[in-house]
Amino acid sequence: MAISQEYIAELSRRTDIVELVRSHVQLKRAGRMEKGLCPFHNEKTPSFYVYPETASFYCFGCGAGGDAITFVKQIQNLDYVEAVKFLAARVGMPMPDEDDSLARLRGRMLAINRESAKFYAGLLNTDAAAHARAYLRGRGLADKTIRGFGLGFAPDEFGALRDHMKALGFTEEELVAAGVCKRGAKGGVYDAFRGRVIFPIIDLRGNVIAFGGRSMGEGKGPKYLNSSDTPVFKKSRNLFALNIARKSPQKRLILAEGYMDVISLHQAGFATAVATLGTALTGEQAKLMSDYAEEVVLCYDSDEAGQRATARAIEVLEHTPVKVRVLALAGAKDPDEFITKFGPQRFEALLEGSGNTIEYALGVEKRKQDITTADGKAAYIRAALEVLAAGALPAEQDIYAGRIAEETDVAKAAILTQLEGVVRQRRRRMARQREKRMRDEGAASSVNVPYGAGGAKALGAAFAEQQLVAALLKDPAQFIPLAAASVRPQQMLAPEMAEAYALILEMGEAGEYIDLAALSGKLPERTIALLSRILAQNYDIGFTRQDVEMFLQRIQGATTAQANPAEMSDEELKAHLEQMRKSKKPPGT
Ligand code: UTP
Ligand code: MN
Repeated sequence: MAISQEYIAELSRRTDIVELVRSHVQLKRAGRMEKGLCPFHNEKTPSFYVYPETASFYCFGCGAGGDAITFVKQIQNLDYVEAVKFLAARVGMPMPDEDDSLARLRGRMLAINRESAKFYAGLLNTDAAAHARAYLRGRGLADKTIRGFGLGFAPDEFGALRDHMKALGFTEEELVAAGVCKRGAKGGVYDAFRGRVIFPIIDLRGNVIAFGGRSMGEGKGPKYLNSSDTPVFKKSRNLFALNIARKSPQKRLILAEGYMDVISLHQAGFATAVATLGTALTGEQAKLMSDYAEEVVLCYDSDEAGQRATARAIEVLEHTPVKVRVLALAGAKDPDEFITKFGPQRFEALLEGSGNTIEYALGVEKRKQDITTADGKAAYIRAALEVLAAGALPAEQDIYAGRIAEETDVAKAAILTQLEGVVRQRRRRMARQREKRMRDEGAASSVNVPYGAGGAKALGAAFAEQQLVAALLKDPAQFIPLAAASVRPQQMLAPEMAEAYALILEMGEAGEYIDLAALSGKLPERTIALLSRILAQNYDIGFTRQDVEMFLQRIQGATTAQANPAEMSDEELKAHLEQMRKSKKPPGT
């Protein structure tokens, strides 16, 4: 299916990539670009950049990159045509005509999820599910709660759901694609959830998109099974019960670890509890929460894993505007148990009194030491000051310095002096880390030359190829005629560059609008990512005619020179990279 180049060009002109990305990622201005936490891999320090002038994005951490269409494809799990349609709808363009097999497939998947949820919920009321009802009641859930969350029961059979769904007209392929069935080694199709209580996962539009299933006994398999990702479900972008929580006028979300915690909290009247779906909090989920809340109260399990997850969630949420507080569950392992043991009022009190993240971190450090001893005191002060240096505003630093002084019986003035030293040290450390990160990013820009294509010269030429393509993308009208006259695509060493270059020349000749989006339907995603990286690295560079002529000469020189793979020693590679680094301004500076 082909969408016309004019259509893509118009779409690309109308799409503001920064606004587009901003609906998924918390972005912060950094010079002429925007940066944030990468939505395509888990990270704590932002290495994801959006470049409005070249309408591209690139992550220096994981190498994901591309144009607006690529972004939508990857973040929404769509194919090319669907991504184009999504963007078209966003900017109010009429749809391109074409067939939509994938849109139909997604419709079928949502239907399968909806029908499966109905099936499981219906079974929960049958005689066969007496033990499941007893289990849920034993966990303190009222019928109203069970109905409200649409809980269900999957019998311990291999074909119950499968046969029911096939009778409704769904094919085995569709059931497997939707994740409710699996295909065995011998090709047979069987139910994914068996002998479990079922928790439907519902998106913000009210569609059932996936399931979690809890085993009831000390039975087989893991305690919880979760649907894997499908075209209608991505774990990392959804939160359990956000569909309910977002309806609350309260701007405070409670983030718990598990399904049962959330359900207990809701039943106890805390209707803004949500949970991740068996994974650590992602940047996308953090962003999602910040769309609905001004404050997030972390309420993870009190065990060590929960505390680690808390520390991590704090870091991820730091990149959003939400205020974060941490709730310490004394006397219970998780919120569910806390409410069962102590009741909603006590939880409410906890919630109102829950400390901010600095208090929380100070508490953690204090518990690690015995501050009745001199050594313990000193260690606590050191750790506490690290906490303040890392995250407290000056006014807060003063308040907490006072508190630490009281706790340890050390003069506040002495604490403040020591704090200054820690702040200075920390600043130096951060500067060193930043430098290192930039060095690593420089190394990531190593050029791909097929082994045996030539020595250091080839490496130089391959670099020139990349720079040439960057120049062509930045100013096609000026540079395409120049390049076309002297270098043919076949002369390029790196196959991806040759392919991109050929396409650019071809489109230039046809007078088509050229930008990354225009290429993205026609080149492999890997190449688009590579091009976005090249654009990212050259974002601050304005190419002149002389630059381009030099690139062209270098490319010509390499193809005429004798190839000598032995020349390409590690040392030369390093030296070359070093030089590249020096001649280039890293991003974010
Ligand atoms: P928990 O075991 O703390 O969940 O795991 P919970 O909801 O409190 O469970 P119970 O019913 O009270 O014992 C937290 C979350 O981790 C995921 C689930 O999403 C669960 O809700 N998980 C846990 C799994 O995906 N698989 C497992 O085997 C266990
Ligand atoms: Mn639990």
